[in-house]
Amino acid sequence: MCGIVGYNGVLDAKEILLKGLEKLEYRGYDSAGIAVHNEEGITIFKEKGRIADLRKAVDGDVEAAVGIGHTRWATHGVPNRLNAHPHTSASGRYTLVHNGVIENYHLLQKAYLKGTKMSSDTDTEVIVQLVDLFAKEGLSTLEAFRKTLSLVHGSYALALLDNEDVETIYVAKNKSPLLVGVGEDFNVIASDAMAMLQVTDQFIELHDKEVVIVRKDKVEISTLNGRSVERAPFTAELDASDIEKGTYPHYMLKEMDEQPTVIRKIIQAYEQGEDVTVDADILDALAEADRLYIIAAGTSYHAGLIGKQYFEKIAGIPVEVHISSEFGYNMPLLSKKPLFIFISQSGETADSRQVLVKIKELGYKSLTVTNVQGSTLSREADYTLLLHAGPEIAVASTKAYVAQIAVLAVAAYAVAKQTGVALDFDLKQELAIVANGIQTIIDSKDKMEQIAEDYLKIARNAFFIGRNMDFCVSLEGALKLKEISYIQAEGFAGGELKHGTIALIEEGTPVFALATQKDVALNIRGNVKEVVARGANACIIAMEGMEEEGDCLVLPPVHELLTPLVSVVPLQLISYYAALHRRCDVDKPRNLAKSVTVE
Ligand code: F6R
Repeated sequence: MCGIVGYNGVLDAKEILLKGLEKLEYRGYDSAGIAVHNEEGITIFKEKGRIADLRKAVDGDVEAAVGIGHTRWATHGVPNRLNAHPHTSASGRYTLVHNGVIENYHLLQKAYLKGTKMSSDTDTEVIVQLVDLFAKEGLSTLEAFRKTLSLVHGSYALALLDNEDVETIYVAKNKSPLLVGVGEDFNVIASDAMAMLQVTDQFIELHDKEVVIVRKDKVEISTLNGRSVERAPFTAELDASDIEKGTYPHYMLKEMDEQPTVIRKIIQAYEQGEDVTVDADILDALAEADRLYIIAAGTSYHAGLIGKQYFEKIAGIPVEVHISSEFGYNMPLLSKKPLFIFISQSGETADSRQVLVKIKELGYKSLTVTNVQGSTLSREADYTLLLHAGPEIAVASTKAYVAQIAVLAVAAYAVAKQTGVALDFDLKQELAIVANGIQTIIDSKDKMEQIAEDYLKIARNAFFIGRNMDFCVSLEGALKLKEISYIQAEGFAGGELKHGTIALIEEGTPVFALATQKDVALNIRGNVKEVVARGANACIIAMEGMEEEGDCLVLPPVHELLTPLVSVVPLQLISYYAALHRRCDVDKPRNLAKSVTVE
């Protein structure tokens, strides 16, 4: 949610900031702005809409070697030009960009800023006005910035410009991600290394409640109470080509195409001799737990539902799966030796993080399964399992979902082996079969395009049904379709439909039914007959060996436990083509952001 960048160097900052913001657009895209600073002062450009709109508004003649930028996902205040960042203090001295939420902004406003005319509806503006107020009272900018931060409750990644000091960007972080990038003759800041790979691959991690002075030739980090901090940069192991679309029309298509490679990378990353396994300390933590609590949101939650089946069916460990935003205030009775597993593509989801903070306070151990090394959830948990999926940029998650399922399978399989459970399959080999199976589906995309055309071109709503693991995948299929095509879609357990929802089936209602689970194959086909009898337009997607005449699509056979890895792929592709047919913005669906860093 929201992304920020900053540049302090010798080149013209505008283009570097705009390019950086383009890379961060996945974090929010309802308005954007930059502020550049030269000897004549600070100039702000901001626009409602995408970075492309901002680009048009930027005056190419203003040259400056210092600047900050922001792309917004609105939390406080509607998405318009007024609420777009950067925000400037009433006197015009300070200009600020902010990612996060200031929880006590109303109280601060009442306590300190009664006489100040606010020019936006944002929580952010309070910060810039307070810095100005404290500077007027005689504090230096750094002291005023620190004093403001000591009063603020909430999450922030901040970059501040002072009209009276063209050499410095003041930076601070708490809970929202932020990195400082270092180079020769310049230093930069970014919410995500991706944004500044254009100029450097050397980044310094910032910790919560740190303040940084960023000049072109030095970076000074200190804690909120003034203790100086030394931290060496790390090399961001991102390949610039990983974050480019190349010849693809959309990131989502590229990322779906990458899925066979992702599975192969996971095999490689976790292989040990003839087997796949995870680190010994993670194995011990899993084996010692009497119950696993999987905490996640959205697509990652759906992957968690499959993970539950793996840990229970393969390793015999009981599992509960919880939506992170609910868990904090609706905690179940916990077992004696729980292990918490956080599943998060970004590793930044605030809903999940607040649970992590809570369970750490209670003294419990945690494991994060994430795509982003060094992300907040990874740093703060005791253990991490990486997804090795490469950057996922499309807002709709695809390759991370299959990676999450594959990594959870590896962990469950490894702990089963460790605890002496007799296993009758070789996971490494079965995952290799899955990779080939996904490739086969991807190679026949035209079928999915046709299905989208036949079933969804004029649909108002759609249903996805399945039983057992197919039910879990139905939930994900429905989420994909609704988030990118805006067709109202719901996933249901096949047997549950007749208990109410079947009332919504009318002539032509599309129903996608998954039939990959042998023991319930007849039951799900029975459910399809029930909806067809009421006029539904049913599309059955069956596993090879279980197909019947008239099925829409036959999936290449894989081990029964691994079917979600292949059955989700046609659903992703069908959603993609349905969204394209409706001319939707596939990579950046309305109202969404990739990384949800507010609760
Ligand atoms: C949907 C999607 C979201 C995320 C959710 C959690 O396609 O991407 O539902 O899965 O916001 O995000 P992470 O996995 O980053 O915690």
